[in-house]
Amino acid sequence: MSVQHAVQVAVNRALRPTGFQVVRGHSTDPAISPFLPARRTIKQAAKAGKSVGDFLDSYSAEPGATAATVDALLEIGHLTPDTVDRVCEIGPGSGRYTARVQAAVQPSWYEVYETASDWIRYLRGELPTLTFRPTDGHTLAPTPSASVDLVHTHKLLGYIPFVTALGYVDEMARVVRPGGVVAFDLITDDCLDDSTTKVWLTEPHRMSIYSVAPRAWLTDFLAQRNLELEGSRFVPLSGGRTELLVYRRR
Ligand SMILES: C[S@@+](CC[C@H](N)C(=O)[O-])C[C@H]1O[C@@H](n2cnc3c(N)ncnc32)[C@H](O)[C@@H]1O
Repeated sequence: MSVQHAVQVAVNRALRPTGFQVVRGHSTDPAISPFLPARRTIKQAAKAGKSVGDFLDSYSAEPGATAATVDALLEIGHLTPDTVDRVCEIGPGSGRYTARVQAAVQPSWYEVYETASDWIRYLRGELPTLTFRPTDGHTLAPTPSASVDLVHTHKLLGYIPFVTALGYVDEMARVVRPGGVVAFDLITDDCLDDSTTKVWLTEPHRMSIYSVAPRAWLTDFLAQRNLELEGSRFVPLSGGRTELLVYRRR
């Protein structure tokens, strides 16, 4: 085993409970967070007799978490096939949210921004109608302004540097059409209840990958971009919770 491989194995052992793994050939851009390796995850899901999405739910959150989150998103945003035709998603990973949103609103256009080549390969096979946008890890540059009915992302913005998350939120506000919906989850200050704080203080090495967003400030930042908060829901996360925030553009 090379020194580089030994270091990778040690880092991955420490990261395992968080749902992240370092993979060879990954970008050195700090804005681009590594995800679980696709091949191993798919194999482990098959061994557990679960779909990849269900496997990830039990691995990094709790059973049923993805379905509950998508149900909340659809309900708060009043999203139906009549109101949504064009969707954009950032960091779909295994596509566990993608497949559910696609089935519920049946859009004619569903574009994704994803940085992990192994998951892109998997998604191309599983969800062949997706459009893969060139992804720089920071912007939604290929998407025209005011062009989508729904732009969303899950379990991404809390793991990347806050400045990158903010850049994506700014971009989401740009690409959504008036009347459309922007939805994402973040670890807001409201997520830090006593039990979460206790876990964070007990396992600081595991929690150092997360960043916390100031909720009131964020809502003000988005109000300046004509986005109004429609509702929110706490979502389970390994070591705590995130908050799904759903905004509508005026
Ligand atoms: C923690 S995973 C969450 C995946 C999926 N949304 C889910 O909840 O199962 C983050 C996803 O975003 C991708 N990603 C990481 N950094 C990114 C960036 N800067 N821009 C776009 N995607 C990114 C990862 O490859 C991964 O698929």
